[in-house]
Amino acid sequence: YLNYRVPRTRKEIFETLVRGLQRLEYRGYDSAGIAVDGPNKTTSDINGNTICLIKKKGKVKALDEELYRKDTLDLDTQLCTHFGLAHTRWATHGEPSALNSHPHRSDKNNEFVVIHNGIITNYKELKEYLITKGYEFESETDTEVIPKLIKYVYDNRENDRITFSTLVERVVQQLEGAFALVFKSRHFPGEAVSTRRGSPLLIGVRSEHELPTEEITVQYNSKGLNKKNSHNRPDCSNSIQSVEDGSAVEYYFASDASAIIEHTNKVLYLEDDDIAVVRQGKLSIHRLNWQAGEDPVRAIQTLQMELQQIMKGNFDAFMQKEIFEQPESVVNTMRGRICFDNNKVVLGGLKDHLKEIKRCRRLIMIGCGTSFHAAVATRQILEELTELPVMVELASDFLDRSTPVFRDDVCFFISQSGETADTLMALRYCKDHGALTVGITNTVGSSICRETDCGVHINAGPEIGVASTKVQFILYINRFMSVSINICVVKLMLKWKVLSLDEKIKSIANELYQQRSLLVMGRGFNYATCLEGALKIKEITYMHSEGILAGELKHGPLALIDKNMPVIMIIMRDGCYTKCHNALQQVTARSGRPIILCCQDDPEMSKNAYRTIELPQTVDCLQGILSVIPLQLLSFHLAVLRGYDVDCPRNLAKSVTVE
Ligand code: F6R
Repeated sequence: YLNYRVPRTRKEIFETLVRGLQRLEYRGYDSAGIAVDGPNKTTSDINGNTICLIKKKGKVKALDEELYRKDTLDLDTQLCTHFGLAHTRWATHGEPSALNSHPHRSDKNNEFVVIHNGIITNYKELKEYLITKGYEFESETDTEVIPKLIKYVYDNRENDRITFSTLVERVVQQLEGAFALVFKSRHFPGEAVSTRRGSPLLIGVRSEHELPTEEITVQYNSKGLNKKNSHNRPDCSNSIQSVEDGSAVEYYFASDASAIIEHTNKVLYLEDDDIAVVRQGKLSIHRLNWQAGEDPVRAIQTLQMELQQIMKGNFDAFMQKEIFEQPESVVNTMRGRICFDNNKVVLGGLKDHLKEIKRCRRLIMIGCGTSFHAAVATRQILEELTELPVMVELASDFLDRSTPVFRDDVCFFISQSGETADTLMALRYCKDHGALTVGITNTVGSSICRETDCGVHINAGPEIGVASTKVQFILYINRFMSVSINICVVKLMLKWKVLSLDEKIKSIANELYQQRSLLVMGRGFNYATCLEGALKIKEITYMHSEGILAGELKHGPLALIDKNMPVIMIIMRDGCYTKCHNALQQVTARSGRPIILCCQDDPEMSKNAYRTIELPQTVDCLQGILSVIPLQLLSFHLAVLRGYDVDCPRNLAKSVTVE
């Protein structure tokens, strides 16, 4: 968070940073830290300028309390030019602790401090090298090599005119892995440098006046690909400047728009290897390396996100709110895309590539976790409608196998966040193999959106709860759309009676919450529902849960069934009804007491079930959108009854931006 020439008290700066962290807490939350200008100085005077670091294990609340303890900084000091950093960490290297949390520093004087999102894969080599040069490390993190390295470059600079951004350029050229970085330094007070490669980073711009420009043209190093001479780049001619009448532009660097939306909805997204610099209130961007054909423009976009969308409203948890938002989310997903005159779906993001899509020989859908389940849920309908082979792949496994991919394949990358590292790597792999890549994400401007050839936004609104509820997308490709499905999608909206089952599901949760295990069984279109239900249960209730294909029951899982093992079965009146009924017989014959998700008025089910949860029926391929909701609600109530924080399950982060 950087402000230029509008005096702010340190208290205001803390509040801005902490509020931003709270909005981002869902991304990673085992520790948090902050760096602000030091205790006494109100000017940018290097001689007295200090940086104060405060870090704390645990939630942002713990950090917040620490900031206001008696002996910390004078809160009323007015700072004219300031630049504060804050970070929430989700441990990848080194346990959660204050020492391992960010910002990390170059030395005890905090000459350089850095916050990092991502992972540095060559940190061991860098660390060994820096240790031989006398640098001492205080944390177990990969990140700490970065501030040490920048200090090393600074200490060995060839002249005193070296700029902050040149130092950063030299550092990132040595880094491998994924990163979004923001640097602060005592040597360059009030100046911010940030860059990214593989991890998201955006800049929010706020001004009381109209901005002098709506876009920034990226500047290239004058010597093109010659990295050594990168500091010779020309001065940036196009930049956002503070307004001359004394008011100023404020800049907010963030990995996610939700952190800054209450301050501004004007943002620009950085691309990989962009270096953004704010100096004397002026933002400019340049490239580390130049590649032919690159778009030199970074447009300032206006986000449609409203603050209330990322607030909990009357709900106890974000996940609960997001479950109840689903009728609206589905409408939003379809909004403007259905043409009732000719019963077609129009997906603007695909239209330029429809010819290639129609020509393809195979569809591959790739994702992780819930997004993978969304792929499983839609495979059958895609196979039926396209008569093409459709593969569904977990991104990590797809890469582990170096799966053969061909130029006439169309690869879909499904991701709520649009930032999942495994999915992103699979995307790059498919691109390298010449396939057409299509992104299906819920986050406009995300890496997956930007790197795919074309795509579809789910438009389901921001998702804050770690447990994903918003990728129950429906994938339609114009030519394959059938009238009946089209109409059903709309009718479906009327059928959200499912949410009124909440009280009933709560009472079932009351009976189940002390159990250790919960099996979820079904087949056909509802197999994906079982996988997803089980994932939700395990991730937020910490109960063991397994999604089982009912067809596999007698090949192993039947051995688990007895009167004590809780089993949920999904038995709708679809193409698999008779087969599911057989599975039910096998379960009841072993004294199993199934809770059955079934259609309304199915006496056969009521007869055999321990409990029934009756659902409205729709076409088979869309039933999963309805049947998953009771399982989401059940996992929510189980987690609450077991006393867990639904939105922040242990060990999990919202955006998994590391492999
Ligand atoms: C489960 C969950 C995760 C994500 C997975 C992929 O509730 O949230 O399994 O679905 O990490 O995330 P996205 O969809 O953002 O790529």
